[in-house]
Amino acid sequence: MDRLTRVPGLLYGGDWNPEQWPEQVWAEDVKLMAEAGVNLVTVGIFSWARLQPGPDSWDFGWLDRLLDLVHRHGIAVDLATATASPPAWLVRAHPGSLPVTADGVRLEFGSRQHYCPSSPAYREAAVRLTRTLAERYRHHPALALWHIHNEYADHVEECFCPASAADFRRWLRERHGTIEELNRSWGTAFWSQHYDSFAQIEPPRTAPGPVNPTQLLDWRRFCSDALLALHRAEKAVLDEVSPGVPVTTNFMSMLKALDYWEWSRHEDLVSDDAYPDPADPRAHVNAAMNYDLMRSLKGGRPWLLMEQAPSAVSWRPVNLPKRPGLYRLWSLQALARGADGVLHFQWRASVAGAEKFHSAMLPHRGTASRGWQETVGLGAELRRLGEVAGSRLRGQAAVLLDWDSWWALELDDHPSARMRWPELLRPWYAALYERGITVDFLPPTAEPDGYPLLLAPNLYLLDTATADRLTAYVRDGGRLVCGPFSGITDRHDHIHPGGHPGPLRELLGIVVDEHWPIPDGATTAVRLNGTDLRAERWSEWIETERAETVARYHSGTLAGRPAVTRNRLGAGSAWYLSCHLGADVGPVLGLALAEAGVGPELPGLPDGVEATRRHAADGTGYLFLLNHGPDEHRVPLRTPGTDLLTGAEAAGAVTLAPLGAAVLRLPAAAQERA
Ligand code: GLA
Repeated sequence: MDRLTRVPGLLYGGDWNPEQWPEQVWAEDVKLMAEAGVNLVTVGIFSWARLQPGPDSWDFGWLDRLLDLVHRHGIAVDLATATASPPAWLVRAHPGSLPVTADGVRLEFGSRQHYCPSSPAYREAAVRLTRTLAERYRHHPALALWHIHNEYADHVEECFCPASAADFRRWLRERHGTIEELNRSWGTAFWSQHYDSFAQIEPPRTAPGPVNPTQLLDWRRFCSDALLALHRAEKAVLDEVSPGVPVTTNFMSMLKALDYWEWSRHEDLVSDDAYPDPADPRAHVNAAMNYDLMRSLKGGRPWLLMEQAPSAVSWRPVNLPKRPGLYRLWSLQALARGADGVLHFQWRASVAGAEKFHSAMLPHRGTASRGWQETVGLGAELRRLGEVAGSRLRGQAAVLLDWDSWWALELDDHPSARMRWPELLRPWYAALYERGITVDFLPPTAEPDGYPLLLAPNLYLLDTATADRLTAYVRDGGRLVCGPFSGITDRHDHIHPGGHPGPLRELLGIVVDEHWPIPDGATTAVRLNGTDLRAERWSEWIETERAETVARYHSGTLAGRPAVTRNRLGAGSAWYLSCHLGADVGPVLGLALAEAGVGPELPGLPDGVEATRRHAADGTGYLFLLNHGPDEHRVPLRTPGTDLLTGAEAAGAVTLAPLGAAVLRLPAAAQERA
């Protein structure tokens, strides 16, 4: 069985910051944890100053006592390396370890994440702390998981200090080899930007006007790599000193700053922090998308929801609590999309510090609170769902996600600044979500063969190798749907020769004559089978070469010209959307889904009900039904099953209250008909 840690069943617990409390409180904590069914707590995330009060003094007594205590209560520990918040003594001894902004402002001590990723002093101290902790606790029976650092790229994702500049130059030398190659790659013939040597290069600090785009793109790549190098330094120590204990670091959902495809190669398991906004009635759609990404990062392996808020957060301008039932529903949603555990920020609500108004599993009011009742209630339900751990789900379609292309797409001085990857992706994802289709994400280097339908909402930066793979996929019978402003540049962010969409031109059977951005607030009609859809942000003057026209522009300068096309190639077809259809993209994707023969997990789902199915290795299915809407719904079932939440047999249909859920165990033989 594919288990995340040695702890059986689903994981339940959260960040515990015991250093904020007198030790007497700990005894109550563990008693209440046991009552709530907590089986894993994350300890030490921000404990550096407490663990190492000075350069050569250590204080482990409290952590020894704490780990012994939780172990006596049968609770396992996700032990943090505590490196996300360096202590004051380190910062004052090495002021150069503080990060510097693009404008040259050195960020002060007094918050957290105040380190320069390329600072040798910070790295040395972080690795030393990691080694000291690993050597002390590697055999502790409470230890089940190592938690490196905390949310890399939170608050600070780049630093422009001299140490970062030197590291950037080293990175550039490795990437480009020679200064001539760098000059070619950066296109420095433009605006007299030629360099004679690497020594002349600086990070892209604030400059009079637009900075060289390839320099900016390389900078993005470098910043992701610089943080990853830090992470790998800690990981190497843990692998060496504490082999066999899995290691993770908490990701931040779909985060621009870090190329999580690359990062996840260095994780033993993927874990994520997710904070959907209770004020947003569509938050669960975005959450589903992030969870699908987390599952995909390790090819479908179960992942861990490392942090969520039991109720309100404290960092939005207005922080709404989760109304009764929402916490449970959203927790089940993570499981429905492949998580094997639900952890939180944090166990006990703080009384001091910037997060004292953040909700916790144990709120300020204590066990009389509504929050505590929900904490205990969810713990009991997760125990009932234990057998789900290790089961997997697979998307019916796949979405291509490429950080390089994301970074390049959002560089300045493009035809429109409104082409932002998350905003292009979200409506496509939502259209599939609403049709009950679960998607997996794929990196551009993947072979998409196993999927009948591949979606590429945007591939601004695209190398010819990826284009060739996509062409082979279509020839072999795949269906590709490609969004606008794709195939534009190569990996140096240079325009592909021969007209847009460059290496996709033959595959898509079209050529772009000119980009035609749509002004803010305006829309252009696109007529599809007699109905008008609204394009926003973006349209293109395209000409079909081999493709057939599926929909035409129906207003504005482009009226009558092709808007959506399809090119049959070999056994498959490649669709092109030359405009951003926003919330109206559904009907077009619906046609492609039908052509690819992709249907929902459970046909006939009422609006607002989400259905996914996980499969255990023995073929047992777990059908998750989640009602995100305000109305009660009856969901028809083709196969009877047992609702693990209630123990009741369900046949014919399941009734879901508003925010209600069911998790049905379906016997292996019934899978095909369910
Ligand atoms: C992040 C951090 C936590 C805490 C929470 C608050 O997830 O990792 O330390 O700050 O946010 O929501």
